[in-house]
Amino acid sequence: MEKLIVEGGRPLSGEVRVSGAKNAALPLIAATLLAPGKHVLRNVPDLRDTRTFIRLMEELGVSSERRGDIVTLDSTNLVHAEASYDLVKTMRASVLVLGPLIARLGRAKVSLPGGCAIGERPIDFHIMGLEALGVSCRLENGYVDAKIDTPLQGNVIYFDIPSVTATENLLMAAVLAEGVTVLKNAAREPEIGNLIDMLNGMGADIKGKESDKLIIEGVKTLSPADCTIIPDRIEAGTYLIAIAATGGSGTVTHCVPSHLPALLEKLRAVGLNVSETEDTVTVSWPKKSKDSGSNQLQSVNIKTMPYPGYPTDLQAQFMTLMAVATGVSRINETIFENRFMHVAELKRMGADITVDGYSAVVTGKGLDGLSGAPVMATDLRASSSLVIAGLAASGRTEITRIYHLERGYENLVKKLTRLGARVWKERE
Ligand code: UD1
Repeated sequence: MEKLIVEGGRPLSGEVRVSGAKNAALPLIAATLLAPGKHVLRNVPDLRDTRTFIRLMEELGVSSERRGDIVTLDSTNLVHAEASYDLVKTMRASVLVLGPLIARLGRAKVSLPGGCAIGERPIDFHIMGLEALGVSCRLENGYVDAKIDTPLQGNVIYFDIPSVTATENLLMAAVLAEGVTVLKNAAREPEIGNLIDMLNGMGADIKGKESDKLIIEGVKTLSPADCTIIPDRIEAGTYLIAIAATGGSGTVTHCVPSHLPALLEKLRAVGLNVSETEDTVTVSWPKKSKDSGSNQLQSVNIKTMPYPGYPTDLQAQFMTLMAVATGVSRINETIFENRFMHVAELKRMGADITVDGYSAVVTGKGLDGLSGAPVMATDLRASSSLVIAGLAASGRTEITRIYHLERGYENLVKKLTRLGARVWKERE
């Protein structure tokens, strides 16, 4: 196993290019199951999760080829309709094959994902929605065994909570259903907009993109897609926070600033200069504060919410930023019940944080407040908060279990090195 070594205390500066979004790539790859033929997906990040998902597709009978960031998937011959526990347990997003397999083959067997590090994460909304379209779902031996005896029928489906992957699964099932399906209180994340564009490009009829009410008029067949994955807003946000937490100044390129409304407002609120173009965001410390030697960021509160609220996938990283600000920040996690596992590790680096249920109170210790330490990565985004802490801290930080990071950050070491960080991997 490898560990990541960070020698911190150096302000990051320069430019970093964002890769395609992991959370858009996965549903778009799944959507290629809907139409036989050769699909072309562009700007596909080369990550552990995208590789795992493509492996799952290959088990179903899809052949694939990667050239640079272009992945071609041929889903003409599907031979299986089953996603095994071995794959699903490593990546719960595997559940995204459920909707398209039912729509294309009329049956699907997908392992139940079980809990994961950040919480229980059930899939009851996915099952409830599919049943509303006429699917019979049996839960047996740890699997959802889903099948239809008559064609899928459109229906009105209301989600108690907007769920990203449930919205995606239901979209992919409903596009080939008979009649009209309405998804109410649907999730509005930009990755869903990317999926809608792909499906409409294949011949689907989905209205309401970017709203919480999606209207899907079923069609009989779809044709293969040629679609580009949107930039990864979480990766973009992670680099912006990293630059800010090290007292640096830099630009994130090839991103969509309008996909980061809450983060950019919060970065402004802490006192940073934030400027945007159509596809870049530049963050820098205000000159005044540097000249006066005060060099401090103001603490602000955040509360994670479904899009366009503050994303839970950027909560851990922002907590690190608040650990090096001044003042007291309250961080409320409303999406997942166990998403503070980075706290214990950040405290080992000198952060002052107390957790009270779904809230964490962070007392900022200023830019020089953290010191390097050996820490352990626990999940994908928690890991990136530790990398940011390592970059901001004085001395050496060693992060073990970095396979979590490799699930979601393409060329992390290379990109950080280009920003001036001292960071490398070593064998444990
Ligand atoms: C997706 C993202 C993940 C992100 C999360 C929230 C992908 C591949 N993953 O995960 O990175 O952190 O959105 O933005 O896109 N829920 C239920 N029952 C269900 C489904 C969800 O109770 O059937 C609950 C969840 O426990 C959670 C909330 O709904 O409290 C939202 O979760 P959801 O949007 O479904 O997360 P994912 O789609 O799994």
